[in-house]
Amino acid sequence: QAIYLADYTPPAHLVDHVSLTFRLDPEKTRVLSRISFRPNPEGPGGPLRLDGEDLTLISARIDGAEVTPQVTPRGLTMEVPDAPFTWEAEVEIAPINNTALEGLYMSNGMYCTQCEAEGFRKITYYPDRPDVMATFDVRIESDEKIKLSNGNPGQSGDGFAEWHDPWPKPAYLFALVAGDLINHPDTFTTKSGKDVELNIWVRPGDEHKCAFGMEALKKSMKWDEDVYGREYDLDIFNIVAVDDFNMGAMENKGLNIFNSSAVLASPETSTDMNFERIEAIIAHEYFHNWTGNRITCRDWFQLCLKEGLTVFRDAQFTADMRSEPVKRIDDVITLRARQFREDNGPLAHPVRPASFVEINNFYTATVYEKGAELIGMLKTLVGDEAYYKALDLYFERHDGDAATIEDWLKVFEDTTGRDLAQFKRWYEDAGTPRVAVSEDYADGTYTLTFEQHTPPTPGQDDKPPRVIPIAVGLLSPNGDEVQPTKVLEMTEARQSFTFDNLSSKPIPSILRGFSAPVIIERDTSNDERAFLLAHDTDPFNKWEAGRDLARNALVAMIRDGAAPDEAYIDAVHTVARDDSLDPAFRALALGLPSQDDLAQTLFDTGTTPDPQAIWDAIETLRHARAERMQDTATRLYAQFQVSEPYRPDAEQSGARSLANAALSLINRLDGGAQAQKQFDTADNMTQQLAAFSCLLQAGKGDAATRAFYDQWQNDRLVIDKWFMMQVVHAAPEDAAATAARLTEHPDFTMKNPNRFRATLGALTMNAAGFHHVSGAGYDRLADWLIRLDPLNPQTTARMCSAFETWRRYDDTRQGLIKSQLDRILATPNLSPDTTEMVTRIRGS
Ligand code: ARG
Ligand code: ZN
Repeated sequence: QAIYLADYTPPAHLVDHVSLTFRLDPEKTRVLSRISFRPNPEGPGGPLRLDGEDLTLISARIDGAEVTPQVTPRGLTMEVPDAPFTWEAEVEIAPINNTALEGLYMSNGMYCTQCEAEGFRKITYYPDRPDVMATFDVRIESDEKIKLSNGNPGQSGDGFAEWHDPWPKPAYLFALVAGDLINHPDTFTTKSGKDVELNIWVRPGDEHKCAFGMEALKKSMKWDEDVYGREYDLDIFNIVAVDDFNMGAMENKGLNIFNSSAVLASPETSTDMNFERIEAIIAHEYFHNWTGNRITCRDWFQLCLKEGLTVFRDAQFTADMRSEPVKRIDDVITLRARQFREDNGPLAHPVRPASFVEINNFYTATVYEKGAELIGMLKTLVGDEAYYKALDLYFERHDGDAATIEDWLKVFEDTTGRDLAQFKRWYEDAGTPRVAVSEDYADGTYTLTFEQHTPPTPGQDDKPPRVIPIAVGLLSPNGDEVQPTKVLEMTEARQSFTFDNLSSKPIPSILRGFSAPVIIERDTSNDERAFLLAHDTDPFNKWEAGRDLARNALVAMIRDGAAPDEAYIDAVHTVARDDSLDPAFRALALGLPSQDDLAQTLFDTGTTPDPQAIWDAIETLRHARAERMQDTATRLYAQFQVSEPYRPDAEQSGARSLANAALSLINRLDGGAQAQKQFDTADNMTQQLAAFSCLLQAGKGDAATRAFYDQWQNDRLVIDKWFMMQVVHAAPEDAAATAARLTEHPDFTMKNPNRFRATLGALTMNAAGFHHVSGAGYDRLADWLIRLDPLNPQTTARMCSAFETWRRYDDTRQGLIKSQLDRILATPNLSPDTTEMVTRIRGS
C-alpha cells in the first residue's frame, strides 16, 4: 500500500469554503460540516471522494437532499453533479478514546487537535490533502471556559464561540482547543502598524512558565520582518501548551499547539538547553506562517519544502539571537548523530522521498535537518544577496499556492540564471557523499584534489556526482591565514583546485562551517589536527580538529588497547585554559564523540564495534583528562560561577556550561563532593541537573534521587527529567533493569509520549546499556513497543529507529536484535506505521 510521487494527480474537486460546528463531548462529539465543492477544471473528474477514519456517519446531504454515500473504513465515495454543490454531513467521534493523539483528542481533560499530516480525516469527511485549500468558519459549542480555533475570533456567548479564518488553508492546519485555560497575554505591532493580540494558553498552575516563550514569539515576529520582510497576517496569534503530544509542536494557522515541554519554561524547572530549544521551536512554528501556511506543499512528498526551509530559518534566527559558531557546531553534532546515522542505514531515504506507506514515518532527520542543509548550500552557492532575492520571488510568486520542490528551485533559476538540475540530485538521491581529499605542492602552487562517491542506499545503487560547495581556507606553517575562506564548487566525480603564489606548503582547513553535509576522507596527522585546533580562524573547523583528535584517541584505545593520548589531552587542555575563547566554545571542545559516533567510526574502518569497550574507553579517557586538568578544572569552576540573577541568554548559559564541564572533571576525582554541594544549593535547573547527573555518574545518586523527586513530584516536565537521568546514567549492566523498574513507578504512564520517551527512549540513549550483550535492553524496548503500538502507533514507529544500526554489531547482537524485530512483526494487528518501520529496518 505504498504511494508514489510519480502517481500524483490533482484533486477531482476543490473546496471554496468550509463551515464546521463542534458539539463537544468526551464520548460523543458531533461534528457538523457544510462544505462548498466545485469540480476542479484541472482534475481527473469522477466521483466525490472524501477521506474519513474512525468516524460514525450520522447523516449526509448534497444541496439539501439526503444522500447515502458508499462508506469504507478509509472514507466515502459519492456520485455528484458536474457543477458546484454543497456537502453537509454530521459525524460522531469519541475524543476520550483517541490515544493515538491524532485528530481530536483529550489531554488532561482538555480538548485539542493534531491534524498534520492526515489527522483531519479523523474529525470529519474531507479531501484531506494539502493541495485542497479553503477558508474555514468554526463554531464550537461547549461549556468549556476557553474555546479556540484558527483565524480571527467571531461571535461568542454562553456555551459557544465562533472563529473565522480568512486565509485559505489545507485541512492539516486546522486546529481546535477547548478547556479550562489561562492566558499569558501580550501584543505585537507589525511593521505596517497593525496590532496583533498574542496569547500563550496554559493549564492553571503553569502561568509562571509563559514569559520566556512570549518574548521568544515577539523576537521571532520582529526577526521575520527584518530578515525576510514577512509580516503576520491575522489579528490574533495563539499558542497552547498541551501535555500529551507526539511531536514538539504544530504550526496550525493562528493557533499553534505545543508539547508543553517545547514552550513552558522557568529558571527553576528548565535548563539552559531547554530555554534555547523552546526559543527555537517557537520561532520555527511562527516562521511556518509563511513557509508552510501561506505557501504550503502540493503533497506530502514535498514535506521538505516547508520543513527544510523552516528549520533553516529557525537556525538563522538562533544564530542571530545567540552565538553563530556555537549554533553551527550544535547543529552539526545533531545532524551527524541523527541524519548521518539514518542516511547510512536501512532507513536511508531522499530528502524528497519518492514513495512511502505512512507519511508520519517521514518526519525524519533527513527531511528536516538534511533538508535545511540543502537550503544552506543553495545560499552558499548563489550568495546572500541572490538568496534573499530568490526568496522574495518565492513569496511573491507562490503566496497562496500548494507548491513543489520544482517551484522552489525555479525561483532560484529565474533570479540567478543558474541551472540547478545537478543541485536537484540532493533532493532525489539518498546517502551521505564521501569526499576523499588529496593534496600536492610544487613551485608555490598548492593543489587540492577531491573525489566524491555516495554509497548505495535502499533502492538506489548508482548515484551520479553532486554539486558540493566546499569552503576552504589555507594557513601557513606559522599559523597565519594565507588564503581566507573560499567556496570551491565541486561538480565532477573528481576535481582539482589550485592556489598559486604560496611561499611554503600550506595547511588546509577544509569544509569550513560544514559547508556541505558530506563526510571528508583524508589522512591527516594528529600534529596537523592539533595545529588547526590551535590556529584555525574558522570556529567550526577549530572545533572539528579537536573532535577528530578525541575520536582518534578513543579509536586507538578501543582497537589497539592504546593508552589515553597525551597529545590530545594537552591540546584540549590548552583550549580549555584559553581565556580569549568563548566559554561556550570551550565547553563544546571538552565534549567527546558519542558512543554511537564511535561505533559508526569503528564500523566504517572495518572493526566490529563492541559497545562495552567503547564505554570503557570513554570512561578511561575522561578519567585521564580529569587527572591532567585538575588545577584548570578547579580554576574554571570558580571563575565561571554566575552570581547575577539567572538569565537564559548565550552569555550566562555559556558560563554555566563551562563551569559544569569543569564540575564533571572535578567529579571524577572527588567522588561527588562538589556535585553534592552544587546540588544542595542550586537555585536553577541547569545547576541542579548538572549536579544530579554527576552524582549519578559517581554512583552517589541515591539521596539526590529521593530529594529530586520529593522536590518536583508535582511538575510533570521535571519528573520526565528524573526518569530520564536515572536511565541514561545507569551502568551498562543495570540500564535495562533501571528502565524496567521505573516503568513500575506510579508516575510512569505509556499514554504520555514525553514520559514514555523519558523512560524507554532514555534506554536507547544509554548506548552501552541498550546494546548490553545480555540482550535485556533490546527485549525491554521491544516489550514496550509492542504494548504501545495499539495505543499510539506514531510514537511506537518513531522509536523503532533505535534498532536501525543493528547491522554494525557482532553476530550475537545481530541475532538478538533480529529476533526482537521478528517478534514485533509477528504481533497481531500491528499498526501499518510500525510494520513499515520494522520491515525497512529488518530488510530481507
Ligand atoms: N509540522 C510540525 C513541525 O515541524 C510537525 C508535525 C509533525 N506531525 C506528524 N504527524 N509527524 O513543526
Ligand atoms: Zn516544522
